[in-house]
Amino acid sequence: MDFIDDLNLCNEQKNYIFSLAEKLKTSMSPELYYHTIGTLNYSKKLSLLYIDDRNKKAHYRLYVSCLLHDYGRMFGYEELIEVARNNHLKIREFELKLPPLLHGLVGDFLVARDFGIQDKRILKAIKYHTIGYCNMSIEDKILFISDKIEETRDYEGVERLRKLSLKDINLCLAEVYKNTIIYVIKENKLLHPDTSKIWNNICGGVINVSKK
Ligand SMILES: [Fe+2]
Repeated sequence: MDFIDDLNLCNEQKNYIFSLAEKLKTSMSPELYYHTIGTLNYSKKLSLLYIDDRNKKAHYRLYVSCLLHDYGRMFGYEELIEVARNNHLKIREFELKLPPLLHGLVGDFLVARDFGIQDKRILKAIKYHTIGYCNMSIEDKILFISDKIEETRDYEGVERLRKLSLKDINLCLAEVYKNTIIYVIKENKLLHPDTSKIWNNICGGVINVSKK
């Protein structure tokens, strides 16, 4: 758990992160656990660049969100649907047919239920880490990006995205969306309507998207 020592947090916050990481280590598969810690480690790198280091609360919220963002992956698809239906979660009918997105959309509920987390910003980060939303907060952008490019991720172009993330997080966000859209269309999969909405929002004058 060396990664906890140099987090920009007070001791009480570090202790909570430690206990959370210990719990996850014994309950998650090794792959999911390493991805989770990879996401936290990458977010640490980005948070030092993009979040004021005096804002310990924001750093803390981000690290808790990173540790718990994929908690929903520990549940089977049918189980997630059952939780969504039984608890009347506001999930659209077509989203129930998108297993890769469902762990996020139900994840916030599961984290609140099983870890007693009430912080709305942590829960929102977890809920939207797979789809995102327009004009994301900096913490949510960092989780969204770290999840896609952390050290255990290995796909063509990931190194370029890593470099970009350290230079310009907004440009990196645009590139991550571009990759997602191209991938979904190439694979003949359903494009979530929010993804095109977010892409248009990003391109709508906010960012000069790279053509390379
Ligand atoms: Fe993830």
